[in-house]
Amino acid sequence: MRNAMFVTTLLLAATAALAHQGVRNPAVKARMDAMGAISENTKILGAMAKGELSFDARAAREAARAIATTASDVPGLFEAPETDPKSEALPAIWDRFDDFVVKTETMVAAADAASTSIETPADLRAALSAIGATCKACHEAYRQ
Ligand code: HEC
Repeated sequence: MRNAMFVTTLLLAATAALAHQGVRNPAVKARMDAMGAISENTKILGAMAKGELSFDARAAREAARAIATTASDVPGLFEAPETDPKSEALPAIWDRFDDFVVKTETMVAAADAASTSIETPADLRAALSAIGATCKACHEAYRQ
């Protein structure tokens, strides 16, 4: 069930990545690129959880570390209310920027915890589901 939901998330992410082309505003491109990098690393965890990549605790922790690092840039990248016809960001971000930052911090915390705690495939699955929940919470509120 969780896996099926995750696959759907990945498919939506892949579609969004295509929409990326033709973004004119460099500030919007930069925040999309950050999301893209977060997504690439989340996909590594997803592929390991599904057995498409063999489980490697160290590589999983590194992917989680990369998510945490990029995620900590997210508030700065989104702070200015930049727009672009290709952007999927909802204006609510800037009405409730404090909440947006809290949702970012939740993502950083989940990825940070994963970056030091993953030892077993079960840890990986738990970490992925914790991280994935933070993506979903923010996208539901602040992304079209
Ligand atoms: C704090 C809010 C927030 C969190 C947490 C968050 N995102 Fe996003 N994400 C956004 C917003 C807002 C956009 C739309 C940006 C735009 O189009 O201007 C976005 C866009 C994306 C995109 C599309 C990028 C593109 O090229 O257009 C992907 C992929 C993505 N997010 C993946 C993830 C993944 C994976 C996670 C969790 C590990 C995550 N996001 C967590 C807010 C968030």
